Amino acid sequence: MDAAPILIFDSGVGGLSVADPIMRALPDAQIIYAADNAGFPYGSKEEAEIAARVPALLGRLVERYRPALVVIACNTASTIALAHVRAALDVPVVGTVPAIKPAAELTQTGVIGVLGTPATVRQRYVDDLAARFASHCVVLRHGAADLASHAEAVLRGEAVPDAAFSDAMAGLLDAEGGDRMDVVVLACTHFPLVSDRLAAIAGQRLAFVDGGAGIARRTAHLLSDQQWRIPHLPHKVVFTADAPAVEALRPALLRHGYADIEIL
Ligand code: DGL
Repeated sequence: MDAAPILIFDSGVGGLSVADPIMRALPDAQIIYAADNAGFPYGSKEEAEIAARVPALLGRLVERYRPALVVIACNTASTIALAHVRAALDVPVVGTVPAIKPAAELTQTGVIGVLGTPATVRQRYVDDLAARFASHCVVLRHGAADLASHAEAVLRGEAVPDAAFSDAMAGLLDAEGGDRMDVVVLACTHFPLVSDRLAAIAGQRLAFVDGGAGIARRTAHLLSDQQWRIPHLPHKVVFTADAPAVEALRPALLRHGYADIEIL
């Protein structure tokens, strides 16, 4: 039997940083990439709103696209709503949580930074990851309120000034111990899409880590017995709102492998 598609979900286009390595790991799989642009940004929302919105929306998407597996390619949604989503859906769900474990393995100085959305960096889930995997480290956290929006603008082809990226990095670099920080966890899936801009601000001494490659490996493992249709059906992006920004994103989406756009 032909395998069903993989549904990859984010509030916006940030999840492309997770979808890209999944596409490389499973080149025969069809990907349905769902962006909740009607709810973007999640990072400035209250927990209760995300905990209600994400399982309901994923329920609709699963009913419509019948995926083999769902990837929540969003740290904010995963750290708040992963358990709710797993309870509500009857398909396997892979989440995206801050890559604190690999960062703690990589650091030489023992100071790591977690750059996420304001909602992500205040989650208990992040406390638990830090306690489990980085108890020997100082873990600095910064919630960069506008950085996901800046990343969306970059993908729409708009010019975003360097100050937007230096302001975000300053939240970590100017914190106590920030001068010794050598690894930064990109704990929002939008941020790897602009890691070149962040690296240009930060200089050579910082390594950036994110969860994309690990999530692709996990997804490929969970789907290792699927028989993909060759050639696969075209990849597709589904937005929850019809907005002018959707058309502006079309060239970037094409570069990432998506020719089809649909509005839910
Ligand atoms: N891409 C999402 C994340 O990984 C959040 C962006 C937003 O604020 O909606 O956290």
